[in-house]
Formats: sequence, C-alpha cells, structure tokens
Amino acid sequence: MTTVRPATLDDIPAVVLLELDGFPGDAWTADYLRIAAEGGMPTVRLLVAESDGPDRTVVGHAIASIVFEVAELQRIAVGPAYRRRGHAQALLAAVIEQATAEGAERLVLEVRETNEPALAFYASAGFVEIDRRPRYYRDGTTGVVLELTLDQGR
Ligand SMILES: CC(C)(COP(=O)(O)OP(=O)(O)OC[C@H]1O[C@@H](n2cnc3c(N)ncnc32)[C@H](O)[C@@H]1OP(=O)(O)O)[C@@H](O)C(=O)NCCC(=O)NCCS
Repeated sequence: MTTVRPATLDDIPAVVLLELDGFPGDAWTADYLRIAAEGGMPTVRLLVAESDGPDRTVVGHAIASIVFEVAELQRIAVGPAYRRRGHAQALLAAVIEQATAEGAERLVLEVRETNEPALAFYASAGFVEIDRRPRYYRDGTTGVVLELTLDQGR
C-alpha cells in the first residue's frame, strides 16, 4: 500500500534521486525542489509516495501546477525497484483529488512519444491524446499532449 502526502524538506534528497533517475538531463534541482516544498511556488504542489511498512521509504513523487481550471502534471516518477505496484496510480489519484478540490476542470501533461511505460500508465488512467508537438524536447523527440477531464460534480 502507498501513502501520498505533501513533501517536506526532509524528503528532498530522496526526490532529487527520483528526479535524476526518472528525468536524466532534465531533473529539477534540489534548490527548486526545496522552494516547491516550502510553498515558494504558489501554483506548484509537490507530493511524495511512501511505501507502507516499517521503513516508510519515499518511493515516488509527483509535481503538479494548478492554475484555475487547468492543472498540469509536470512530473510523476517511481523508483525503478518499486514500479508496477500501484505507487504512480496512488500519486495520480492524489493529484486528481487536489486539482479537483482546487477547482481544476482538466489535467494535462506532455510526455515523450518514446516513453512507452508512461504512455501505457496514462492510458490506463483514462488520459486521451489531444495534440502532438514535433521536436518538443531538446533532443528532437515529439511531445504527446494528454488530457484527463476532471469531475467537478456537474
Ligand atoms: C511511468 C511510471 C511513473 C509508472 O509508475 P508505476 O508505479 O510503475 O505505475 P503503476 O504501478 O501505478 O501502474 C499502474 C498501471 O499503469 C500501467 N503501466 C505502468 N507501467 C507500465 C509499463 N512499464 N508497461 C505497461 N503498462 C504500464 C499498467 O496498466 C499498470 O497497472 P498494472 O501494473 O496492474 O498492469 C514509472 O514507470 C516511472 O517512474 N517512469 C520514469 C519517469 C517517467 O517517465 N514519468 C512519466 C513522465 S512525466
């Protein structure tokens, strides 16, 4: 099982490692992550997933930016040793809950068209493709824009 909670400063070293592993060449720095955890980026929510058990290891994190009706999932990553156990699903559920509570109507994200695990993960969560951006990434890879409609009770 997974517990998802807002990151604290104590979590930053673990999140730095998750960033370096999940997003090599594009990782958020410890300084940025610290500012986010301290609430210094008003639209940004930094969440961590802890595996339940005696050691309560931080196994994953998510970063979302929520601006009025649009929430953007900037990152979601789970450590390689902990994948396929539902931790990303738990992180995404927490992001959806938070974004919905703050009034967002849709959750959008960009993902590399070559990132098959992530595309499979987002498809399993109900995201649909709304756009493609050729050469979106610095190395020339196409970006796929995905969207999930959030339920505002209407
Ligand atoms: C994408 C990622 C976050 C998924 O994390 P995870 O904790 O392994 O995902 P979950 O266990 O919650 O998976 C939920 C469902 O998503 C799908 N899925 C996840 N990883 C998959 C994979 N490698 N291949 C196929 N389907 C996959 C499956 O349907 C899975 O359910 P199942 O295990 O019961 O079949 C993880 O692979 C990762 O950290 N990748 C590196 C960082 C990254 O690319 N992030 C996304 C871009 S922002």
